[in-house]
Amino acid sequence: MLSLKFEQSKDAIVTIIADKDKTKQILINLVGNAIKYTGKGGVIVTAINDGPFVKVLVADSGVGISLENQALLFRKFQQAGDSIYTRTVSKGTGLGLYISKLIAEGMGGKVKIEKSEVGKGTIFSFSLPIAKGVSYV
Ligand SMILES: Nc1ncnc2c1ncn2[C@@H]1O[C@H](COP(=O)(O)OP(=O)(O)OP(=O)(O)O)[C@@H](O)[C@H]1O
Ligand SMILES: [Mg+2]
Repeated sequence: MLSLKFEQSKDAIVTIIADKDKTKQILINLVGNAIKYTGKGGVIVTAINDGPFVKVLVADSGVGISLENQALLFRKFQQAGDSIYTRTVSKGTGLGLYISKLIAEGMGGKVKIEKSEVGKGTIFSFSLPIAKGVSYV
């Protein structure tokens, strides 16, 4: 069984400019991947302040992605299995990261892979811009 945890960071809670449903879609994509590519251990989600952005980190203890395959991520239909040319259709379409990146960029943000080690796990993140001059209520 896998664990899924949200870790509250000590950073201040700030307001961001973003569409709620689209933000949820990015989160579901990243958490969905983290679960799908993790055999044991679990997934931890946390949010931190990162300059003019709020960055949400999704860390897993899964299969990891080789450096070679990391360079190919975020492309349409790209999957990063044992062979980058073979598709594991049973696991998905290979569109999740591509779409997540488009959505994040459409809101002035970004999606990236923070780090990954084969056999150990992966951290993906997405960032969205903080709303200047708006205080949290
Ligand atoms: N957390 C992760 N750990 C290991 N590999 C990952 C992780 N996230 C993505 N990948 C690799 O990157 C590839 C692309 O991910 P993406 O979300 O775009 O497609 P998918 O999950 O295969 O299909 P879809 O999201 O369309 O259902 C995956 O096929 C997988 O090989
Ligand atoms: Mg996916």
